[in-house]
Amino acid sequence: MRSHYCGDLRASHDGETVELCGWVSRRRDHGGVIFLDLRDRNGLVQVVFDPDTVEAFALADKVRSEYVVRLSGRVRMRDEAVRNSKMSTGDIEVLGKELTILNEAETPPFELDAHSAAGEEVRLKYRYMDLRRPEVLKNFQFRSRLTHVVRAFLEGEGFMDVETPILTRATPEGARDYLVPSRTHPGSFFALPQSPQLFKQLLMVAGFDRYYQIAKCFRDEDLRADRQPEFTQIDLEASFVEEEDIMGITERMVRSVFKELLAVDLPEFPRMPFSEAMQRFGSDKPDLRIPLELIDIADLLAGVDFKVFSGPANDPKGRVAAMRVPGGCSLSRKDIDGYTKFVSIYGAKGLAYIKVNDLAAGAEGLQSPILKFLTEDAIKGILERTGAETGDLIFFGADKAKIVNEALGALRVKVGHDLNLVEGEWAPLWVVDFPMFEEDEGQYHALHHPFTMPSCSAEELKSNPAEALSRAYDMVLNGTELGGGSIRIHNPAMQRTVFEALGISDEEADEKFGFLLDGLKYGAPPHGGLAFGLDRMVMLMTGCESIRDVIAFPKTQTAACTMTNAPSPVDNKQLREVGVQVRKEEG
Ligand code: AMO
Ligand code: AMP
Repeated sequence: MRSHYCGDLRASHDGETVELCGWVSRRRDHGGVIFLDLRDRNGLVQVVFDPDTVEAFALADKVRSEYVVRLSGRVRMRDEAVRNSKMSTGDIEVLGKELTILNEAETPPFELDAHSAAGEEVRLKYRYMDLRRPEVLKNFQFRSRLTHVVRAFLEGEGFMDVETPILTRATPEGARDYLVPSRTHPGSFFALPQSPQLFKQLLMVAGFDRYYQIAKCFRDEDLRADRQPEFTQIDLEASFVEEEDIMGITERMVRSVFKELLAVDLPEFPRMPFSEAMQRFGSDKPDLRIPLELIDIADLLAGVDFKVFSGPANDPKGRVAAMRVPGGCSLSRKDIDGYTKFVSIYGAKGLAYIKVNDLAAGAEGLQSPILKFLTEDAIKGILERTGAETGDLIFFGADKAKIVNEALGALRVKVGHDLNLVEGEWAPLWVVDFPMFEEDEGQYHALHHPFTMPSCSAEELKSNPAEALSRAYDMVLNGTELGGGSIRIHNPAMQRTVFEALGISDEEADEKFGFLLDGLKYGAPPHGGLAFGLDRMVMLMTGCESIRDVIAFPKTQTAACTMTNAPSPVDNKQLREVGVQVRKEEG
C-alpha cells in the first residue's frame, strides 16, 4: 500500500512521488491550505493539501486526529524559513495529490503528544493508543534490538535456545505461585513457573551443555517499579563450569549489549562480598555512583547513657551506623524532617544527625539534637571515624541491623540524588559470597534458591548453617539487581542436606522435587548459570522509571490488566469443569 515510511523521507527524496500510509497526528487549517502531520512507526511527515486538488482537499478537510489514511503526493523542499531542524523530516514536506480515508477514529481518550497529563490507569486501559506515542514506541524498538543482540551473542557462544513448559509445578524462587486448575485432573493444579530453574538444570543432566531462553516468568508478589507479576528473563545455564565461566560469559554479554546499542564501554565490574556491600552500603545491590557510606560506630556508643544508641550497640543483632553527607549542612530542618519520615517507611524510629558547622570550634561548632546524650570522647570518635569536615552533616541509624541497613541504605540513595552527588553514568559490580540462608524466626530460607551449591562441605553446612556461604553471584547496575545466578548442587546427597537445613523433610522433598533428585542420580554434570531481568535491563538502558514502560501490556500496581479486565470471574460451568468452587465470602 505504500512506497515509503513517513519518517524515512529526507531531502534526497526531493521531487519523488511517494505513497504513504499512517495516522493523522495533527490537522491544521491555514486559511486555504490544510496541513496534515502523518505518523507511522518511523516518524512524522508534514503533508500539504491545497484547494487545486479539489477531491483530496475536501477529504483532508474531513479527517480528524488518529484517522487512518493513505495518500500519494510529491516530496518537495520546504522554504528555508520554515524548515524544522527538530524533526528528522523537517527539511521537506509532501504536496498531497490523492487521499483515501482507510478508517475513522473517535476522539482519543487522551492526548497522544502531551506527555502525560493522562493518568496511568487510562493510559493502560487504552494501551494501544499509548503505544502510538513515538517516545513509548522507541523503547520497544530498543527492546527488540536488545534481544536480537543477546540472541546473536549467546548463539555465537554455543548456547542453544530451548523452550521449557509454562504449565508446570511450583518452582521455589521465593514468591507465591500462579495456579492453573486442571480439567483432566479435577482438584489438581499446575503452577506457572517462577523461572525455568529446574528445567534448565535437567537440560544439563540431558547433556545439552549450553542452554538459553528468553523466558516468561510468573511471580505473585507485591509489585514495585522494577517488579511485575509476569516478566521476562534472559535465562542461561552451562555444564562443566565454575563461577568464573558464567560471570565471564555474562559480563561479556552485557558489555557487548551496551557497546552495540549505546556505544558505551562499561567500566570494570568490581567484585564485592555480600558482607562488605551490607556493611558499606546497607544493601546487596549498592548504587556505586553515590559516594556515601555507612560507617559502624557501635563500639564508640556502647557505653553512653542514650538507650537509643547503647541498646543496639550492645545487641548482637543490632547495628549503629553513621553516614557522612558532604555539604549536608545546607539541609534545612524541613529537609531533615522529610528524611526522618522517609526512613520511617523502613521501620526506623528516628533519624539523629549532627551538623558540623565549624569543625575547628569544638562542641560550639556542632548542631544536633543528640549532643547532650553523648560523651565528648564519643563525639570525637564519630567525627574522626567519619572524616567529617566543616559543612558536613552526619546521619545516624540505630536499631536491628536489618532496619538500619534498609533505612540508611535507602536514605543514601535518596540523599545522593537530592544533593546531586551521583558520579558517573554506569556503575556495574558483582556481588559474591552470599550467605546460603537467611534466618527468620528460627527458620532458614534460601537466600538465592535451594539448588545453589554451598561453598563449604555438607558437614560444615550441617554444623553451622548460619555461617555457610553459597556459590551465588549477582550482577548489579546502578543500584538495580540486573541478574543473579549460581553454581548448582549436582549431587543428590548435598541437595538433601540443603533441603534438610531448610526444614524440608525427605518426604516433602520427594513429593515436590523428586524429579530433580532423580535427575541428579543419573549422571548430573557440574553446572551453573544465571538469569537476567530483561525488562530491568531495558528500563535502565532506556532511562525509563519503571519496567511497565518497557512491557507492551503491563499489569497495574494491583496486578490487574485494566484493558482486558483480567483477572475476571468465570461462569459456574467452567468452574465445575475444572473442579473448582469459589468460596461465598470471597466470590
Ligand atoms: P532471580 O529470582 O534472582 O533468579 O531472578 C533473576 C532476575 O530476574 C529479575 N526479576 C524480576 N524482574 C521483574 N519483575 C519481577 N517480579 C522479577 N523478579 C526477578 C531480576 C533478577 O535478577 N532461577 C534463578 C536464576 C538462576 O539462578 O540462574 C532466578 O530466577 O533482574
Ligand atoms: P528522642 O530521644 O526519641 O527524641 O530522639 C532524639 C534524636 O534521636 C532524634 O533526632 C531522633 O530522630 C533520633 N532517633 C531516635 N531513634 C533513633 C534511631 N533508632 N536511630 C537513629 N536516630 C534515632
